Amino acid sequence: MSNYKDEVHLKVQEKIYPPEDIVKRAWIKDYDEVYKRSIEDREGFWAEVAEELHWFRKWDKVLEWNFPYAKWFVGGKTNITYNALDRHIKNGKGDKIAYIYVDEDGNEEKVTYSELLEKVNALANGLKRLGLKKGDRVSIYMPNSIEAVVSMLACARIGVIHSVVFAGFSEGALHMRIDDAKASAVITATYTKRRGRKIPLLPTVEKAIKDLDYIKNVIVWDRDKEGVTDKDDKYVDLNRLIEENKGECSPEEMDSEDPLFILYTSGTTGKPKGVLHTTGGYMVNTYYTAKIVFDLHEDDIYWCTADIGWITGHSYIVYAPLTNGVTSVIMEGVPVYPHPGIWWEYVDKYRVNIFYTAPTAIRMLMRFGDEIPAKYDLSSLRILGSVGEPINPEAWHWYYEHIGRKRCVIVDTWWQTETGSHMITTIPSYPMKPGKAGKPFFTIEAAVVDKNGNELPPNTVGYLVIKNPWPSMLRTCWGNPERYEKYWKEIDNVYNADDLASIDEDGYIMIVGRADDVLSVAGHRIGTMEVESAIVEHPDVVEAAVIGKPDPIKGQKIKAFVVLKVGVEPSDQLKKEIQNTVREILGPIAIPEEIDFVDKLPKTRSGKIMRRVLRAQELGLEVGDLSTLED
Ligand code: WT7
Repeated sequence: MSNYKDEVHLKVQEKIYPPEDIVKRAWIKDYDEVYKRSIEDREGFWAEVAEELHWFRKWDKVLEWNFPYAKWFVGGKTNITYNALDRHIKNGKGDKIAYIYVDEDGNEEKVTYSELLEKVNALANGLKRLGLKKGDRVSIYMPNSIEAVVSMLACARIGVIHSVVFAGFSEGALHMRIDDAKASAVITATYTKRRGRKIPLLPTVEKAIKDLDYIKNVIVWDRDKEGVTDKDDKYVDLNRLIEENKGECSPEEMDSEDPLFILYTSGTTGKPKGVLHTTGGYMVNTYYTAKIVFDLHEDDIYWCTADIGWITGHSYIVYAPLTNGVTSVIMEGVPVYPHPGIWWEYVDKYRVNIFYTAPTAIRMLMRFGDEIPAKYDLSSLRILGSVGEPINPEAWHWYYEHIGRKRCVIVDTWWQTETGSHMITTIPSYPMKPGKAGKPFFTIEAAVVDKNGNELPPNTVGYLVIKNPWPSMLRTCWGNPERYEKYWKEIDNVYNADDLASIDEDGYIMIVGRADDVLSVAGHRIGTMEVESAIVEHPDVVEAAVIGKPDPIKGQKIKAFVVLKVGVEPSDQLKKEIQNTVREILGPIAIPEEIDFVDKLPKTRSGKIMRRVLRAQELGLEVGDLSTLED
């Protein structure tokens, strides 16, 4: 659509073949053959995968597709925590390490599958004692930690729906998410560690729930044993709850379609949507994509650097590595502290085989120079993953050469909170094209279409759509089925991902970016209207419009155009205040780096802000059709 995208296109022609030993070891060696089979019998394909996992009762029917509502493994009963924990323990793997937790200070904590189950059972018992039951919602606002994993699994054990909120969000974002889900309890910690500092979490929870009288309990991981839960019966100490409720907790026999979790994600409106995932299909799809795309084997050490607060953390830190029974590294902290080689130090130390991160992190680490990773022994690595935004060929090559040392494969996995698991990627045995995500995963039919659903010729940018239901697709938006139906009804009865993409002659898909007003800042998905709503909370602001500007490291940075109240003088001080307002409401990731004070904003006659006009002006692009502009 715009010129710079065409340029990127031309550069992305090269094909890189995977090393022989990786192909030899791969679960699946012939993508094309398996893909063809998977499309011919989609349901048979997924049934075969589902057989690898444990069901208390087998399903009667693989798929019931009642457009746009899908039910997978209908009539089946299972529990994802049984498949994540008990199953391995029964197979004699109880003493295997499930997680190696590390932080910025070099602290380390290991937990085996048996120990993890013990904690999960105890906390699940504790949650029951507090009166929580199947179908209730619990919000989790926690550091990236074993305690967070235990909290999520304890909910899943007893059928409580968890709603994890990224601990980098502030009070307003947290309040909205707790209130929309009507959570009965919140699980949190006194603080999280970041760049050598302790960032308080409990005070943010307290502010967020001030008026929410339906919150019965706040369960706190009191990290420094300060006794913060002594003040009030509503507050419960997480570790005490675990200590006092040790013992078996038999897993709730969940219907395949019983909800597992809600995860809020940004869209075009001011209010994020609560994406709902259910049990059976999510379990099968995440398990299998991790197994095939990361080519997980019994003895693998796996590290996904995401945060549990995002879907990447849910699917590929918590559920899929556990259902696959591997050992995972989980880190609390940032990639550059205490030094910009910390990730490579840990890859070396723990002999990590599969490493999964985001392009924004790669671009940031690239800046520190090739000498940094060169200091470490990275020979254990086999598979490198990328997720969250398009990976530019330059970053791809750096990752491939300086981290993978040309002995690894890169899997560039395209997917979304809504899709639950990987949708487009290459698998390790398949040739890669730097800058192009790859091909649809098994059973997935993807296309690039125009607004009416007509397929576009190769190398033409259009809307990326998925033509069929898949097991881990979102089932609805919490409390907002109309919003859910929109995904399938906007473009010709196919799933509209709201991403722009193109497909080349070989069928490789290149993702260009979002088609809607959603920003991607350091891989974080942020709605323009969410930021605008936060800005106008400042008493001197009348109106605001927000756009994304290209940023060499973060992908995009936020720029705001702000209209002030009559008589208010623009100033740098005011800019800082506005930035602080956004920080307090949404969190540091949503702060507009640039602010312009303007007299008015371009709008349609019906009063909608035309962000694309601002974007075009700012970036020197063509403005396009202006017929709806008010004046
Ligand atoms: C959006 C979804 C799903 C994990 C993290 C993000 C962008 C995701 C890629 C990729 C290009 C990507 C898309 C998508 N995206 N992966 N490999 N290449 N773009 O989840 O917060 O739901 O965001 O992230 O724009 O729509 P999310």
